[in-house]
Amino acid sequence: MTQAQLAQGTSPLLAVRDVSVVFGGIVALNGVSFDMHKGQILGLIGPNGAGKTTLFNCLSRLYQPSSGDILMEGVSILSRPPHRIAEIGIGRTFQNVALFPNLSVMDNVRVGTHARTSSDIISDSLRLAWIRRSEGDVNKKVHEILAYLDLEDVAHTVVAGLPFGTQKRVELARALAADPKILLLDEPAGGLNHEEVHVLADLIKRIRDDRHMTVLLVEHHMGLVMSIADHVVALNFGKKLAEGTPAQVQADPDVIKAYLGSKDQ
Ligand SMILES: Nc1ncnc2c1ncn2[C@@H]1O[C@H](COP(=O)(O)OP(=O)(O)OP(=O)(O)O)[C@@H](O)[C@H]1O
Ligand SMILES: [Mg+2]
Repeated sequence: MTQAQLAQGTSPLLAVRDVSVVFGGIVALNGVSFDMHKGQILGLIGPNGAGKTTLFNCLSRLYQPSSGDILMEGVSILSRPPHRIAEIGIGRTFQNVALFPNLSVMDNVRVGTHARTSSDIISDSLRLAWIRRSEGDVNKKVHEILAYLDLEDVAHTVVAGLPFGTQKRVELARALAADPKILLLDEPAGGLNHEEVHVLADLIKRIRDDRHMTVLLVEHHMGLVMSIADHVVALNFGKKLAEGTPAQVQADPDVIKAYLGSKDQ
């Protein structure tokens, strides 16, 4: 039995409850609900315009749902601004890479460690000195993550000059540096070649297994989702079309129909 299966009986780590998002007249999400359990890799799929990015942006707090709720460990996250979601254990990467291009790999990852430790100045100053992370601890953490993601050789290289695939790995390192409970990945395979997608698939599985992470994967690359997700939620026209194991979702007639009618395969 996998970790995720064992967790099925427990309360969800993250619960999406009847979330709708309306932009002007467009209903981008229409009453979507699903649960994420600890240790799961959950793949969120759907044809163009299905609502994947909209949902991702609700989870990372860039968009406010028009109705419904999103609960992290039973507590609504909807009153929390985007810069304060790292504190409750939600980490994210960006579809188009959002690093500091003129900083080194190491400094970009270092920024990630501060996302969790110093975003709230008042509670930080009230915190006892011995709880506060010392500079030495931060360095240790940064080095551990660089080694884990095989980025030590480029630790002192400025990010702007690195290949896109490596930059994506740096972004993953930065997200991991905040010790998230949930990692939200927005199309991590976008722009990667075949070989890089394989490496990425292994890496995401490794992160889940070694670091006990829960992963939400928004992805166009069906091969990647179907090979590593333990649970898949399929959206179409803002509604949940199907959910289940990759095999169940792949065989679902509504999912097949939705994909046949789109240019995604
Ligand atoms: N900021 C916005 N303002 C207005 N409409 C939007 C906005 N963001 C998304 N939409 C609309 O909401 C719907 C869902 O879009 P969304 O980007 O979430 O889909 P998606 O599943 O991520 O698609 P893709 O696979 O193309 O990235 C679409 O009809 C889109 O045009
Ligand atoms: Mg999208």
